[in-house]
Order: sequence, then structure tokens, then C-alpha cells
Amino acid sequence: MAEHDHNQGIDNATHSFDQGYWTEHWATRRGGPDPESAGGPNPHLVREVQGLKPGTALDAGCGAGAEVIWLAQQGWQVTGLDISSEALEVAAERAAEASVSSKIDWVEADLTKWRPEEPFDLVVTHYAHATLPQLGLYERLSRWVAPGGTLFIVNHLPNSATAHSGEHAPGHATTTPDDVVAILSEPEWTIDVARADVRDVGTVQLHDVIVRARRSG
Ligand SMILES: C[S@@+](CC[C@H](N)C(=O)[O-])C[C@H]1O[C@@H](n2cnc3c(N)ncnc32)[C@H](O)[C@@H]1O
Repeated sequence: MAEHDHNQGIDNATHSFDQGYWTEHWATRRGGPDPESAGGPNPHLVREVQGLKPGTALDAGCGAGAEVIWLAQQGWQVTGLDISSEALEVAAERAAEASVSSKIDWVEADLTKWRPEEPFDLVVTHYAHATLPQLGLYERLSRWVAPGGTLFIVNHLPNSATAHSGEHAPGHATTTPDDVVAILSEPEWTIDVARADVRDVGTVQLHDVIVRARRSG
């Protein structure tokens, strides 16, 4: 495990990441897309996943659905899961406008309690922060990847701003590439991508961690 304190900068009063926090988050977005997706699919997902053969996919904490819609357009049969009914309503409307509703199942559920009936060929997650420790959430998601399938994670690096406020993401919600790789051990997992990246979203510069890993078949 890399030397990184996940409790650094913790601010549970304002970043509890429980259902109430996310209900408030989506209420203040007034039904619009999450600014971290800036309306379109996350560019890291597009770059790293577009070469994969489509199958079943889960977007864990899908928000307003930009990545779910993009995956459906690439031929994946996608489950878009979020704890916020408001986010899912917006996501379903956007999917209907894009004529991909038949490729998508929307699930309103809590990732810390929900379990899939079948594992997925692809599990993706972008900036999802729940009441579990961040690496605990990723460890849970990794169990839902089918043999031969792929796990794809995008998160904030420590000291990164968020596109919502321009302020730093709370320390306990951030991860380095080494942190994520440390929970995906050989020989079960092969790491295809583990890197950091910087990109501009509006006036904010985001520092992202991107990990793509394959589960042995
Ligand atoms: C920062 S937003 C990111 C949304 C989207 N992935 C994107 O990149 O635009 C985090 C999302 O995770 C969802 N979420 C947080 N905790 C959750 C949980 N326990 N179960 C399901 N979804 C959750 C929130 O409702 C929110 O939509």
C-alpha cells in the first residue's frame, strides 16, 4: 500500500456521502449533468474502454448517465446504478433522447448493500464516493467483475479540485494509482492502466487517477 493517508482532510460534516448528501447534491444540480462529466462521457472512459468487446456492464454511481449512454452506444448492455432517484430520472430522460433505452437497466440502490445476481464483463465507476472507505468500495466493486472481465476506475488524486466547487476533494475520497493497484493482486488481476492525468473542466483543473484492470479468466 502506498504511503497515503485516506483520513487526511476528512470533513464528515460536509462530506458524509450518505443518501442525504447525494440527494442535496443532485437537487442543487437542478437535473443537469454532473460537472465532472461536463455533459459528455468521461474522456478517460472513452479512451481506455472503446477497444473492448462489448458485453454486460455496470456503471456504479452513474449520476446523470453520460457514461452509461456512451457505453450503450458502443453496444454494451448496461446497468446504471445510483442512490439518487433524481439523478436516475435525468439519466433515463437523456437515454431516451439518445434512443438507447433498450440497452440500459436503471437501478436505484445503495452500492454498499446491493449485490448483482450475475457478475459483469465490465464494471466502471467515476468519482463515486459512498459511506464506505474509497478503497473498500473499489474492493467491493472488483468482486462484481466476471472472470476475464474488466474493472475501470476514475477518481480524484489527493489534493485535486472537484469540478463542483473548485475546492479540494476531501482526502478520504481520494486515491493514488498505487492505492488502487494494491487492492488488485496478482495472479487474479492484471493491471493494464494505472496512471494520473490532468485535465480542464471549465475553469477547474482536475487531477485524476485512472486504473483499468483485467480479472483472470
Ligand atoms: C460525484 S458523482 C459522479 C457521477 C458520475 N459517475 C459522473 O462521473 O458524472 C457520485 C455519484 O455516486 C452516487 N453514489 C454515492 N454513493 C452511492 C451509493 N452508496 N450507492 C449508489 N450510488 C451512490 C451519487 O448519487 C452520485 O451520483
